[in-house]
Amino acid sequence: MAHFPPAFLDEVVARSDIVEIISRHVELKKSGSNLMGLCPFHHEKSPSFSVSPDKQLYYCFGCGQGGGAFQFLMQHDGYSFPEAVEYLAEKAGLALPLDAESRPVDEARQKQAYELLSQASQAMGRALAGEAGAKARAYLEQRGMTADIIRDYGLGYAPPGYGFMNRVFGHDARTNKQLEAVGLLFKGERGYGDRFRDRLMFTIRDRRGRIVGFGGRVLGDGEPKYLNSPETDWFHKSDLLYGFSEHRDTIRKSKQLVVVEGYMDVLGMAAYGLKLGLAPLGTAIGERQLREIFRLCDAPVFSFDGDRAGRQAAWRALERMMPLLKSELKPRFLYLPEGEDPDSLLRREGRDAFQHRLDHESRPVLETWLTGLQLLAGQGADGRARMAKKADAMLATMGDNYLRQAWRQEVEQVTGIVLQQSRRRIPQAASAPNMPAAATPRLTAVEERYLAGLMQQPSRFRSLPDKAASFFVDNAIISPLYSRAFSIIADAEDDKTDIARQLAQAYPDSQTMISRWVNQATVQDIEFKSLLLDMEANDIRRRIKRGMSLADAIPAETRLREIKREQRILTEQLHETGA
Ligand code: UTP
Ligand code: MN
Repeated sequence: MAHFPPAFLDEVVARSDIVEIISRHVELKKSGSNLMGLCPFHHEKSPSFSVSPDKQLYYCFGCGQGGGAFQFLMQHDGYSFPEAVEYLAEKAGLALPLDAESRPVDEARQKQAYELLSQASQAMGRALAGEAGAKARAYLEQRGMTADIIRDYGLGYAPPGYGFMNRVFGHDARTNKQLEAVGLLFKGERGYGDRFRDRLMFTIRDRRGRIVGFGGRVLGDGEPKYLNSPETDWFHKSDLLYGFSEHRDTIRKSKQLVVVEGYMDVLGMAAYGLKLGLAPLGTAIGERQLREIFRLCDAPVFSFDGDRAGRQAAWRALERMMPLLKSELKPRFLYLPEGEDPDSLLRREGRDAFQHRLDHESRPVLETWLTGLQLLAGQGADGRARMAKKADAMLATMGDNYLRQAWRQEVEQVTGIVLQQSRRRIPQAASAPNMPAAATPRLTAVEERYLAGLMQQPSRFRSLPDKAASFFVDNAIISPLYSRAFSIIADAEDDKTDIARQLAQAYPDSQTMISRWVNQATVQDIEFKSLLLDMEANDIRRRIKRGMSLADAIPAETRLREIKREQRILTEQLHETGA
């Protein structure tokens, strides 16, 4: 988390309207005190996505996504937390607080690392502009890279031989250790050495725009052609996409995204004014990268070389993508002429021809899949059987039940064979996308409704008996949150205190759960009374089980009988009111 003071975050939330933010994407209709709509995070036909305008929280009862305004921007629009804060602050006309507070040690280390990486990138930029960079400059020019591209994408040069990093940063032991930690130096038998030597350097940023690593291309021949930073605490290859931070806005605005294979394709496209390219870092595209791509654009084009290796790569991408597909997503696949990549093709044919290929030669994912299956399976009756079998297995990985049915019908039509395996219904949760789930505490139905009742009407805290304070002592996740709620209420000046929001801010990991409580069907007073009795009874039983003295046990048993009686009375009342 970034260093926004809680009071500032409160102010930002207070001045934002979650309904306005969400209604840009979801049609919301009033339902009781909440608004309901079709969930933007999973495919559904009847609304289970609820927004509470009072509490400024949303929750989907279908897929479990939930949170506040910041979370929506993060989960739906692909913002990072600081970006979401900045965006809403700006909209509300609030100036960002100066980052003056002192930071914990760990954050200081983080900051130092980013600082080091950023200075290294600048030093590589200077080396490119300097005397030693002449060869690299000439190479870039020959490949059509302009001064703007070199500056905006942080291209640079790492000179030959050892000692470049030490010349920039000094060579005391601490600095060397740090440079090693960020992947710029390696430690060999004869001490530290520069990882990148005599290479054209590509600066790699994370989704927040921080520099986290580098790619280096040889000039001329040599092995390996591309060398990347090693995995470090900051550089996680399978999470990163080259061009993401540079192109996110243009991609969102133009609703176009092209997934390409390499750095030079991303830059080549940018040089032709197509700032839409994203590339994995030399590895096959993985699930997290695909999620990121689909969050940014619902109709990305995946481009591949038309040769055999390219078709295989496309098939791998398609397999990876199947669990994530839903009917709202329209990925397309584009095969380029053999031996060409977007960079070479743009230079040969120009921008219009390339755009034409993107628009007219790319094929929908379903078509790509069917063709791929056919190629894999071969001709004749055997081929049709093989195709059905393979399709069946792949369909079983699909998360979207509706889309799976539709695709299965397509295959059944082509093969004339009824598929078996994928008819089994897979729980929809398999497709629940996005954020890694925080540890979810086990809650009984009673506990869940009890907490919902409290969040929905915080004044109820004031009427709780003293023993209620210890209801969740055994639940490591709920307990701190629950006692914080008591102290918030104690400090509050009136009963209007927005406890859910304050708790969600204090416990960001629990935000989804809190949103769920708030957005549940309203807990009426009689139900709440009954829940409170249940909670008390369970609490007593738990303590009896743990063992208590006879002197305590007798009143405990008496109280249990009393609770039963009170419950009966409540049940009768409930019937009388017809609730
Ligand atoms: P390519 O070999 O297709 O290179 O690698 P390219 O992008 O067309 O580069 P130019 O046009 O020859 O300069 C595609 C991507 O695969 C990764 C890199 O990310 C590269 O951009 N790669 C390739 C490596 O990581 N290591 C290698 O040795 C080669
Ligand atoms: Mn190339």
